Amino acid sequence: MEDLLKKIENGRATVGVIGLGYVGLPLAAVFHRSGLKVRGYDVDERKVTLLSEGKSYIKHIGVDVVKDLSDSIRFQATTKLEDLAGVDIYVMCLPTPLGTHEEPDMSYVFGTSELIAKQLMGNQLFVLESTTYPGATDTDVLRILTKDNQLEVGTDLFLAFSPERENPAGSGDEAVETSIIPKLVGGVDESSGVLAAALYRCGGFKNVVKVKSARIAECSKLLENSFRVVNIALVNELKLVFEKMDVDIWEVLDAAETKPFGFKRFNPGPGVGGHCIPIDPFYLTWKAKEVGQRSEFIEISGRVNASMPSRIVDKVQLALNDVGKAVKGSKVMLIGIAYKPNVDDCRESPALKIWELLLDLQAAISYHDSFIPKVPKTRTHKRLEGVESVAISEEILSQQDAVVIVTDHDNIEYDMFKRVTCPVIDTRNRLRRLKGINVVLA
Ligand SMILES: NC(=O)c1ccc[n+]([C@@H]2O[C@H](COP(=O)([O-])OP(=O)(O)OC[C@H]3O[C@@H](n4cnc5c(N)ncnc54)[C@H](O)[C@@H]3O)[C@@H](O)[C@H]2O)c1
Repeated sequence: MEDLLKKIENGRATVGVIGLGYVGLPLAAVFHRSGLKVRGYDVDERKVTLLSEGKSYIKHIGVDVVKDLSDSIRFQATTKLEDLAGVDIYVMCLPTPLGTHEEPDMSYVFGTSELIAKQLMGNQLFVLESTTYPGATDTDVLRILTKDNQLEVGTDLFLAFSPERENPAGSGDEAVETSIIPKLVGGVDESSGVLAAALYRCGGFKNVVKVKSARIAECSKLLENSFRVVNIALVNELKLVFEKMDVDIWEVLDAAETKPFGFKRFNPGPGVGGHCIPIDPFYLTWKAKEVGQRSEFIEISGRVNASMPSRIVDKVQLALNDVGKAVKGSKVMLIGIAYKPNVDDCRESPALKIWELLLDLQAAISYHDSFIPKVPKTRTHKRLEGVESVAISEEILSQQDAVVIVTDHDNIEYDMFKRVTCPVIDTRNRLRRLKGINVVLA
């Protein structure tokens, strides 16, 4: 442990980052900037090639960040796991989605851990950053990493969990630089915790918070995201309640927000999306069942949020009905399909659910989203894959039977909606200040 600690503290350690996506790429950049040697591994050849050429494939990660990596002899991107043999530290940032029955899908993490186990040499640290259920690190990952070798955790293999708290810039959010977000670490034993804390402290993180165990760090991540899912569900539900009472939730929120303590604002919307909020809390509900306990708040919140897309479709149906049209055959344009404003990520986006529901009703759908020029491959929306974004103008909007603002990116000229004559269903209240247009708040 002492040798590895010295190596980390002297900046001589080599870090292997497994998975160079939204989490792994900025993390590799922070480690590299602090002077560490970094090898990045990803199965996606396109990403590795772009990275080697100094090109970014994530919108909010600037070309300068990627060029810094590609121009450096301290960084190597590879599609071969063998190239990581001999690194001092593995940091795993692989996907942890849900399976078809909303159970954790740990196949990426477990499968790659099995491969890594074969190349472990001892005196190495392994940190899991992928969100997971409590106990995944100190039971399942530990078992896989030590199954077929003589390594002992806490003596010659060190194991920790450190949750990712990436905040891709969205509307109302400031993009937060990865290195200044407090970095939580918890080891499966004391030595592992000390080494993991040293890694992030020496690896460029300004504020490292070491907690007692990997489980505490795992649960903290789940609590943080459950907090969001429950509060978003609460305002989504209250929106429906207030609507029936002819009260505008947005005005209520403005009023409540004047309270300087004990209140945190969440806005209603078309549902939740992204790789975290719709998924992570269900890792907890799944694990809770195993110990004979239900996490009902999370389950109910999940149901409320999941029902929002069909509420929006009801609004579209009613708005079309008001102008004497059926959904079937109507031209409906979706504005913004990313899961939140100003990001190029449409994983689990409610826009895709709204789109599918409208397709089921035989509407003719097009979309505009300059952040997502083409619908990528997704877990559940195969029908939509490859569809391309269309341009918008007053003329194009005027040719629609209805327009739905699902995600309000800041780069859209909202003034042009003033002259649109078809119903505009606004799920984000973006058009609130524009007078005289045919807006339906949804
Ligand atoms: N995106 C976020 O803002 C965010 C925030 C907090 C936590 N997380 C968590 O971090 C983890 C990673 O999420 P992400 O958003 O970076 O995912 P991502 O899909 O952007 O990145 C994962 C990367 O892993 C690669 N990959 C897939 N299988 C692989 C394999 N077997 N071997 C090597 N590479 C492989 C993919 O090509 C991809 O580049 C997840 O557990 C997620 O829940 C994400």
